[in-house]
Amino acid sequence: MKDFAFTGGRPDPFTFPTEELIKASEKALRKLGGDLVNYPGESGYKGLRELASMRFERREGVPLPVDNTSITSGSMQALELVLGTFIKPGDTVLTEEFTYSGTLGIMRHLQANIVGVPMDYVDGMDMDALEEKLKELKRQNVTPSMIYTTSNHQNPTGAILSLERRQRMLELAEEYDTIIVEDDCYGDIDFVPNPTPDSLFKLDTSNRVIFIATFSKILGAGVRQGYFVANQPHYGMIHHNRWDGGTSALASAIVAEFFIEHLDKHLEITNAAVGAKCQAVVDTLDEHVSGLCTWTRPRGGLFLWIDLPETTDMSKLNTLASEKGVGFSSGSAFHYAGAPVKAIRLAYAYCHVDDIPEGITYLAEAIQASQSEVVGEAAAD
Ligand SMILES: Cc1ncc(COP(=O)(O)O)c(C=O)c1O
Repeated sequence: MKDFAFTGGRPDPFTFPTEELIKASEKALRKLGGDLVNYPGESGYKGLRELASMRFERREGVPLPVDNTSITSGSMQALELVLGTFIKPGDTVLTEEFTYSGTLGIMRHLQANIVGVPMDYVDGMDMDALEEKLKELKRQNVTPSMIYTTSNHQNPTGAILSLERRQRMLELAEEYDTIIVEDDCYGDIDFVPNPTPDSLFKLDTSNRVIFIATFSKILGAGVRQGYFVANQPHYGMIHHNRWDGGTSALASAIVAEFFIEHLDKHLEITNAAVGAKCQAVVDTLDEHVSGLCTWTRPRGGLFLWIDLPETTDMSKLNTLASEKGVGFSSGSAFHYAGAPVKAIRLAYAYCHVDDIPEGITYLAEAIQASQSEVVGEAAAD
């Protein structure tokens, strides 16, 4: 049976640049040689920090501060370090109502009180709702530890926090004296030219934003290269609790050598491939489940979010889809409180583009067959 894996936020395996990475590896090893006997140190390989800075400058017009950038084992380690520094058991944190399950896992592990802020799927977190939550917390004498947001092509909804909302979030963070952790995991995966507003980190004027990014989503999660950027005193506070000797300098150097030469070309090739897959998913949904469900139409990122009818039997949907080899993620995994929502997330970059119409057709059939009687009768009327 074919495997239609719409699970997990992985990039396109068919544009993975194996040959170029072989060349980059040779360059990296010749450059580093015996230096590899040393521990990389807590900030990590400078060449990759410079590359991260250049990557940011290409999009935002200003570089990242190289000396305040720290390479981590994927952005997941950056999240563990940053959240672990600022969240104590019982602390309150604010985030989008739907957000990355891995971040929620860390927050729960740290025993945070997670407050979900309503959002929409286009412009992200609702700032009036955020203000209300902050006011309510203040009335209870609670200062939240942080606002966590995925500003670009949010996981799981694909929302892009609008410029106006970014500016308002910064004002609110200042007014209520908290920090913002900006997770830019999906920045640079754009199917249309330059759709994302300035980053919160760039807009910040009161040293409240910690920026997190990764190479997992534009290259591969297997390289485990991510980073965080923070000004002092935050940078030092985060490193105070880091004990691992630094992230693999060899892996960092290979990624840096590859991207120094190929960043623009690689993004052009891989974004075109991922964009075509996203379009294939949208087209097949349009063909089969219009009128039954609603879904997002992403301009970038790796995810499409489907709101299913209330009449959907989620466990039946899971069973029917998996009988056809179709995998997806259940919406409730991304709900801040794990509520049982009638929604699913599709990650579209991993499947072969030619398999998408078949896989999504099976999914559409499974959705139709998972509706309870009420919808069946209504449809017959
Ligand atoms: C929003 C977000 N942040 C962080 C991560 C962690 O990615 P990695 O550790 O591979 O960089 C993910 C992975 O899916 C994610 O969706």
